[in-house]
Amino acid sequence: MQKQLDVEKTIDQWNAAFTENARKPLQDLSQYSTESLEWLMMEHWQFSFRNCEFLWNSAQTTGAFDTDAVKKELIRNYEEESGHAAMYKAALKKVGSDVEAREEFVPTTKFLDAIGELCLREPSVVLGTMFATETAAIFEHQVFKAISEEVIARRAAEAAGKPLVGFHDLHLDGVEQSHKDELGIFLRGLYQDQAVVAAEGIRPTIRPQQALEGGKAAVELMKEWWVNLFAEMKEKNKALAMTA
Ligand SMILES: [Fe+2]
Ligand SMILES: [Fe+2]
Repeated sequence: MQKQLDVEKTIDQWNAAFTENARKPLQDLSQYSTESLEWLMMEHWQFSFRNCEFLWNSAQTTGAFDTDAVKKELIRNYEEESGHAAMYKAALKKVGSDVEAREEFVPTTKFLDAIGELCLREPSVVLGTMFATETAAIFEHQVFKAISEEVIARRAAEAAGKPLVGFHDLHLDGVEQSHKDELGIFLRGLYQDQAVVAAEGIRPTIRPQQALEGGKAAVELMKEWWVNLFAEMKEKNKALAMTA
């Protein structure tokens, strides 16, 4: 029999299945209008904008654990991320994409609100949720770097586009990997058949099933959000084809 995966690897695997699928429609960006690619970037900015609230609230709820190691890591992450939404917004503006001019896309609002609610749950659920979103962040910065480069090339905005590419590079250059790994430590070597795993060293007492529940819920929400994003991209391209 195959050895059972621990909580860290299980959530990692769910995430890999989700991102593998979500990457497929983005392999050939030439099929999308510049407007629809720009729209996608602005939807992603919404996540960046809400991220600090998620990290802050998660740090507070995980403060209920019996050690402060998870809270400390989330505060570190929060401090690293604060200011990033403004940086991203300014970088987008330089290539002609104004997030202030965006119209609300309800599936994005619903998705972000649902992640926000998960951050207020029981601490093990919150840990699983945040680990899942940090794992997906690597995928997001990879695909949005490629999308940014496509938009920049079409607009011949290479010089103006440097901060935008740089923004994604900064995250891919170890930042997101460390966010993922530093939370993953707390889930490593824990298995779903254990109801409670007692604290050890700096790691708090964790409920593996709850951590898996949070991770699963977050991956499912991200999966659904991307399905909605791609459906809207299709509509936007269709509408453009009809007016062309
Ligand atoms: Fe960031
Ligand atoms: Fe992150």
